[in-house]
Amino acid sequence: MVTGAAGFIGSHLAHTLLQAGTTVIGVDRRDPATDQTAAANLAASHGLPGYMHITADLLTCAIDPLLFDADVIFHLAGIPGVRPSWGPHFSDYVASNILGTQRVMDAATRMRVPRVVVASSSSVYGPTSGGPSVESDHPRPASPYAVTKLAEEQLCLAHAARVDCPTDVVALRYFTVYGPRQRHDMFTHRALLAAITGQPLRLYGDGHQRRDFTYIDDAVTATIAAAFAPTDTGIVNVGGGSNASLLEVINIAKSLVGRDIQIHVEHARNGDVLTTRANSGRAHDLLGWQPTVDLHNGMRAQMQALTRPAYHAAA
Ligand code: NAD
Ligand code: UGA
Repeated sequence: MVTGAAGFIGSHLAHTLLQAGTTVIGVDRRDPATDQTAAANLAASHGLPGYMHITADLLTCAIDPLLFDADVIFHLAGIPGVRPSWGPHFSDYVASNILGTQRVMDAATRMRVPRVVVASSSSVYGPTSGGPSVESDHPRPASPYAVTKLAEEQLCLAHAARVDCPTDVVALRYFTVYGPRQRHDMFTHRALLAAITGQPLRLYGDGHQRRDFTYIDDAVTATIAAAFAPTDTGIVNVGGGSNASLLEVINIAKSLVGRDIQIHVEHARNGDVLTTRANSGRAHDLLGWQPTVDLHNGMRAQMQALTRPAYHAAA
């Protein structure tokens, strides 16, 4: 089962699993019949043999019947995004990221699902000195979103530690994932769109923020590898190794599209950390994983997807 299958990462994961011949039940509360983003994200998977899509809210739906014979739950459903989490939607973050996760883990335990791979976040580290974050570092989440992601991963691990729980958990701390179908609130998408359309780009702060940008295909490869990781693997960073500033992202977007970008500088946003950087030792040792796509090539693929006619038709 892939939760959040109509989302950015979940839709890529479901499609890759299907291409490998795996049977996938995708669950998401966004209905592809009425939600254009969900429809575009799921377009490649719908109709493939082995795929069943369930439009349902994990906060209320019966999860157990979806888990007969399930080998793995990839739990990616959640409310993402650092900055909006300060606003009135915090209760949605708590509901989906914590209460929904509790329901998923209860169902996994009852249905004796051997493995849950849960999407955690680099944001749980909070402000760092700029050096690589190791999974054993003391987390200092700096936004309401990050607090819910830390709670989510720890909740899953607490369930797994129960003596009566047959489910093992791997929590992946993804670092800023980008590529085709990236969420439209994210920076790489907005920088490429600004270059393509000529619309201004809003830059929060001076652009010297750095992220360990992770290409979507690399994130998916790590996620599938996590299904086969040794028992008690626990928490693993998934960082793409392309540590770059926002100004570098802007320059790549400009050079790929061949057009200047008009920038509107705004104040830095609360909860936005200056730098994320992953130590990838555990991903290498326990998942046999390392990133393969650098930022320039990954952004080229994202740009090509954005300029394909099918993208505009779906959007
Ligand atoms: P996304 O918003 O594109 O996908 C999340 C999906 O979850 C959405 O389709 C949404 O409808 C669904 N969902 C939310 N609450 C639900 C509920 N209660 N029941 C059913 N479906 C529900 O986000 P994404 O960028 O693909 O992120 C996926 C996961 O990875 C999230 O948990 C996010 O916190 C985490 N993550 C993402 C990134 C990144 O860079 N994109 C980095 C770190 C962690
Ligand atoms: C991303 C995802 O959005 C989160 O869901 C995820 O949990 C997180 O990665 C993670 O690594 O865990 P973030 O790093 O903030 O969060 O990625 P973006 O939303 O792309 O923002 C990157 C930077 O660009 C931030 O400093 C942000 O302030 C800035 N930004 C974003 C702008 O300057 N302008 C914009 O229009 C959007």
